Amino acid sequence: MTNIATTLLAQLDNTSLRQLRGIAAVAEIHGAQTYLVGGAVRDALLGLPVADIDITVVGMTSGLPRGVARALNGRVVAHSQFNTFAINAAGRHIDLAMARHESYTQPGALPTVVPGTIQQDLARRDFTINAMAVSISTGSFGDLLDPFQGQADLEAGKVRVLHDESFRDDATRILRAARYAVRLGIELEAHTEQILRRDASYLDTISPSRLRDEYMRVLREGRAVSTIEMLHTLGALRPVHPALTLSGEMLAALRRAEQTTHADTHLIYLCLLSHSLSQSERQSLIIRLALSSDQAEAINDTGFVADRIPELEQELSRSEIYLCLREFSEASILACALISNDSAASQSMMLLLDELRHIRTTLNGNDLVALGVPQGPRVGVLLHELLVARIDNEVKTRQDEIDFIQARL
Ligand code: CTP
Repeated sequence: MTNIATTLLAQLDNTSLRQLRGIAAVAEIHGAQTYLVGGAVRDALLGLPVADIDITVVGMTSGLPRGVARALNGRVVAHSQFNTFAINAAGRHIDLAMARHESYTQPGALPTVVPGTIQQDLARRDFTINAMAVSISTGSFGDLLDPFQGQADLEAGKVRVLHDESFRDDATRILRAARYAVRLGIELEAHTEQILRRDASYLDTISPSRLRDEYMRVLREGRAVSTIEMLHTLGALRPVHPALTLSGEMLAALRRAEQTTHADTHLIYLCLLSHSLSQSERQSLIIRLALSSDQAEAINDTGFVADRIPELEQELSRSEIYLCLREFSEASILACALISNDSAASQSMMLLLDELRHIRTTLNGNDLVALGVPQGPRVGVLLHELLVARIDNEVKTRQDEIDFIQARL
């Protein structure tokens, strides 16, 4: 049995290590064995810091999760079916799950779950590199269970499924395969790629919320654009939605988006990917991925902003640009600017985002009333006119603003 205690210890900070010891101690009192599983083992073997702690428990008892939470001075924050518990302690998130055996009655459906051995728990997983466990129990701390040669695949740089039905059982693994390959700079093992291409249409079997969650994980990855490119090459973008494709123009814009410092880059990617869709295709994408209102708004706005591009290609004043675009979300405007790179329209959109959107009048409604504007709708009208004048640099100082209002009284 390979023991990777030294490798593991090098990737755990003191808090995580203390927590692992605490979990193992409580589990022993309950007669259970505990294993660190999944991404944590993979990342430790790659020499990457272990962020999330995923624990599988063989011999789970009803009191164990609360016992662990108490020992770690934390609390159980979620409890799902299948005996899976989320614990927050010392600002860390720990998942504690009963070792389980799964079988799929139909593609994409949630599996039938019964308590299982650690080997059965590993056998239900997506890829060999994610199907390893390390014992954290005292006496066997660091023992590596690697029934599918995940360590060898990590060293060879291969993402490999455990069996031929894997993508049919759970087609979100298609998106996950590309995500891991790109993130870890490794490749899909040849047979895995073959069955992924064969089974790409099984993405149809995935519920909107699960598909959205995995798709958003793709868009939030550091190297999202390469992952999207890979999914496109594998024929796995259209099955997410038939209208999704990746033109050369779109890819170039996605690459430019990758260079921006925008906080919500994933939203810009979403806007760019939906940029050439028709209105009805946009609506069906929103439904297919059960998108949130922010995400749906960004996609819809992209259509509206794209419709305004011919107008924005004309020579417009600063305030005309502002009035043309002011109601749309930042991500949608930035996406359209990136796709119509360097055109007059793109320059106008960047001017709006970088400067015009941030311009404010110094006077507010109360100031206008104090200057003698009667309370009521006229206050709003004059504030708007004042803002337009400020955007066009017709007024520059507070005194200019006062003069502007008084001239209209
Ligand atoms: N898993 C799986 N099939 C899925 C989702 C998850 O087999 N569709 C298993 C894998 O063993 C995975 C573990 O559950 O390692 C945890 O899932 P998740 O948190 O999604 O992945 P991580 O491996 O932690 O990867 P990441 O670094 O992307 O969070």
